[in-house]
Amino acid sequence: MTDFDKISRRDFLTISGKAGLATLMASAVGVNFGMVHVAEAAVGKGNVTPFRFAILTDAHLFSMPDHKFDAQMADAVDKVMSMKPLPDFVVYCGDIAQNGKDDQLRKGMKILSKLTMPVHYIPGEHDWYLDMGAAWRGHFGSPTWSFDHKGVHFIGMNSILVRDFWTAAGMSAEERMGVMEMLESPIAGPWGVREEQLDWLKKDVKKLAPDTPVVVFTHSPLWDYYPRWNFQTEDAPEIRQILSKFERVMAFHGHVHQTVYNKIGNLSSVGTLSTSWPWPYPDVKLPYPDMQMYRSDPAIFTDGDGAQHIDLESNFSGVMQYDPFGDMLTPAMKNGFKI
Ligand SMILES: [Fe+2]
Ligand SMILES: [Fe+2]
Repeated sequence: MTDFDKISRRDFLTISGKAGLATLMASAVGVNFGMVHVAEAAVGKGNVTPFRFAILTDAHLFSMPDHKFDAQMADAVDKVMSMKPLPDFVVYCGDIAQNGKDDQLRKGMKILSKLTMPVHYIPGEHDWYLDMGAAWRGHFGSPTWSFDHKGVHFIGMNSILVRDFWTAAGMSAEERMGVMEMLESPIAGPWGVREEQLDWLKKDVKKLAPDTPVVVFTHSPLWDYYPRWNFQTEDAPEIRQILSKFERVMAFHGHVHQTVYNKIGNLSSVGTLSTSWPWPYPDVKLPYPDMQMYRSDPAIFTDGDGAQHIDLESNFSGVMQYDPFGDMLTPAMKNGFKI
């Protein structure tokens, strides 16, 4: 089979339609579209024992039985369990529930219980604002954590904290949750990790050497991607400042339901596929436009969704691989990209 044969019909249609025959032929002969510019210098002294971890996120489970998102989340779990090698652990990046109900969280836990490796959790806004995280914390513990694994320092934080908009307005818990469920929600204002977690972060990384490999998970991106949809974290500049002493930091986030990449200073930020639905790309110019997946096929419910895994090497370089349900990755993304 030639390279040309390997390009799917969808690739052909998209590339030939959008970029013309020259681009298609470049793809066919193996020209690299996007791996070089995101490749980074390695850090550390080769102290990382190579391993894989996976990320699942944004299931948005409803309370109704046998909803299609239940099966999609289960399919992503199966995807993780079929990986060879298996990931050492999975991080769940938030929004298990659609509107914060305990039965939704419990349903998610049941589906995720098929995973045989440890799972670490951070919350999304859809998990939190019915009871201010009470049920979520009851199941998953603190949303602020760190641990070391095979030479890498992993950090999770709750980035969906907003200022109190409900008390003065006399809102019920359901009304508060309803406000936070909206994609555009000027009522709630910007999200952040806030002072307590910033203080925790300062203490957490204080004793770490600058060449320590660090990986951070938050629900929202640690950069101003599209604040109108809360594709941002208000105090991300403070987080980046605290982490600026490290040679390199990898950050992964949920919430955006799409592939996206950005790098600010020493921090590389990677968006993840959800298991529920793909958001459209906001109407902004991206710093790394090659990281946009194709627009999902609206006739296929699961197109644009999926899982993802990351293989870290001894020098803290890594390959990010999206594991989509459908065929929505560009040729440049199909073999993963260096982070
Ligand atoms: Fe989400
Ligand atoms: Fe979210």
